[in-house]
Amino acid sequence: MKGGCWCRILWPLLGAYLACAAVVGYKPVIIVHGLFDSSRTFGKLSTFIRQSHPGTEVFVFDVFDNGASLTSMWKQVEGFKNITYPVMQNATDGVHFICFSQGGLICRGLLSIIPDHNVHTFISLAAPQAGQYGDTEYLRHFFPHFIKSKLYIVCYNTVGQELSICNYWNDPHHRDQYLKNSKYLALLNSERPHLNTSVWKANFLRINKLVLIGGPDDGVITPWQSSHFGFYNEKENTVEMEEEDLYVKDLFGLKTLNTRGDLVICAFNGVHHTEWHSNETVYRGCIEKWLT
Ligand SMILES: *[C@@H]1O[C@H](CO)[C@@H](O)[C@H](O)[C@H]1NC(C)=O
Ligand SMILES: *[C@@H]1O[C@H](CO)[C@@H](O)[C@H](O)[C@H]1NC(C)=O
Ligand SMILES: *[C@@H]1O[C@H](CO)[C@@H](O)[C@H](O)[C@H]1NC(C)=O
Ligand SMILES: *[C@@H]1O[C@H](CO)[C@@H](O)[C@H](O)[C@H]1NC(C)=O
Repeated sequence: MKGGCWCRILWPLLGAYLACAAVVGYKPVIIVHGLFDSSRTFGKLSTFIRQSHPGTEVFVFDVFDNGASLTSMWKQVEGFKNITYPVMQNATDGVHFICFSQGGLICRGLLSIIPDHNVHTFISLAAPQAGQYGDTEYLRHFFPHFIKSKLYIVCYNTVGQELSICNYWNDPHHRDQYLKNSKYLALLNSERPHLNTSVWKANFLRINKLVLIGGPDDGVITPWQSSHFGFYNEKENTVEMEEEDLYVKDLFGLKTLNTRGDLVICAFNGVHHTEWHSNETVYRGCIEKWLT
């Protein structure tokens, strides 16, 4: 009978302990993949998270994997919304986003259109936030016969805009066409004003922290400063975020975030594009501390 007695004492204690752990536990982390990749890319990152923050639920969804990642950005936003929104609704204390490469732009779409999202920290990992203008190996794989100076011909029309890459292709020599034809980035950045501009801005500003990670040895994001919202001017000189129109005019809330003290920018040398999510120095230096 002694055993039964112990049980009656221990069970309530254990129950209280477990309830406590659930309350003070880490927020779930949702990882969104990029162009031509899938959940398999994030094994190491998931392990880093589970080791440093035991008990964290990590979600990496296999939608729009590999070739399907060329699907237009709005379609992908819709699909990722379908799958991530239930996770948000389940997480009373909110969730974190880690969004890699093209995924960083998908996440901005989600944060703009979901009025009651509860994303606490949005970590943008090597994402072309201000657009892409470089014919790196990723592009040559798909457009072997096009050079970057000519890709605007493919991209800046209705047919081209069916491709994700074209949705954020930002040719500094054809800015008027970008502004006129981009169905995604120009709207997300409110560089082409639209009816939902102020609503999207308010939605985006629900995040508590924006963490921008990138670096000069990326090799894919071009210019690499796009991962920090810098971009080329018409002479292909790089303009830093603080001098960009979208920042100065606070078109979608970036300046507000910075003024609030909620914008963190991290740069690392020696990290190629395909290594960002697997590099422990990057994880320890600029990801781990935000995932509480
Ligand atoms: C998202 O969910 C809606 C409603 O269930 C569905 O009609 C739509 O096809 C889904 N879209 C994607 C891209 O999964
Ligand atoms: C939401 O929580 C319930 C109960 O814990 C669980 O069964 C369900 O799978 C969760 N849904 C998602 C999308 O995480
Ligand atoms: C844009 O605004 C219209 C009118 O206010 C609204 O019906 C629609 O749902 C909004 N769309 C998005 C994606 O926020
Ligand atoms: C990891 O990041 C560190 C710090 O920037 C860098 O020196 C190193 O080259 C990186 N390693 C890989 C394999 O990317």
